[in-house]
Amino acid sequence: MKENVIESAYPGFGLGLRTDHYSDFVTAPQKVDWLEIISENYMVDGGKPLHFLDRIRQDYPMVMHGVSLSIGSTDPLDDDYLRMLKSLARRVEPAWVSDHLCWTGTDSLNLHDLMPLPYTEATLRHLVPRVAQVQDVLGLPFLLENVSSYVSYRSDEMKEWEFIGELAARSGCELLLDVNNVYVSSVNHGFDPQVFIDAIPVAAVRQIHLAGHEDHGNYIIDTHDHPICDAVWDLYAYTLRRFGAVPTMIERDDNIPCLDELVDELDAVRLLSERVLAEQREAA
Ligand SMILES: [Fe+2]
Repeated sequence: MKENVIESAYPGFGLGLRTDHYSDFVTAPQKVDWLEIISENYMVDGGKPLHFLDRIRQDYPMVMHGVSLSIGSTDPLDDDYLRMLKSLARRVEPAWVSDHLCWTGTDSLNLHDLMPLPYTEATLRHLVPRVAQVQDVLGLPFLLENVSSYVSYRSDEMKEWEFIGELAARSGCELLLDVNNVYVSSVNHGFDPQVFIDAIPVAAVRQIHLAGHEDHGNYIIDTHDHPICDAVWDLYAYTLRRFGAVPTMIERDDNIPCLDELVDELDAVRLLSERVLAEQREAA
């Protein structure tokens, strides 16, 4: 199994592993430094996904990304789910495990959507012990990702970026900063995305997501079915100036192109990152 080298001096650039590209990764080396898997797709007893996972893991460092933890739900955390997640982590030996700062249901009902939380003191107090519970089970770095959202709550007591910073400080969780989600939410809720980026604690961010979306003019749906748009490229450059070299990957979940196309897009991420960081070094 390939050693996880994601935390090296040059952390590199990744893609989400999708079934469409299994054979590409098996048959030839790809210009991809690491892969992110969707944890739930591999929380099974056997079959094709695990076969390819084990095979591809021999050649690529991996991280695990979940969609079902529901860290913010009022239901207790699902012990069976955590056990299966831990079991998969033993198999994959990921550099870290992430999920979303959201709730996905309550009363044992899974709505299969990543819904935003009310940004309140009570929510923070609810989350901190739950993060500790997950950290205790996994024994690995645990990251939470900012979600894209379409609604907010009258009960909000602080901005999303203030809430995220406070959660990281109180719980010790690390952050997966999804730059596309920041942009999507900024359009949907009418805030300045640079204000969001400026407020996120630099030391807490261990990974960045980029993705495309569906632009409807006065609102955006976060579909992950398009290439990265110009505004998100610009916001990523802005983010790099604040955070420096952070492992970055592209998420593509629908309208999935051939792997070469995604590798080309990832090359553009790599070039932009190198250019911005070189400019910073020269200016220093
Ligand atoms: Fe994401």
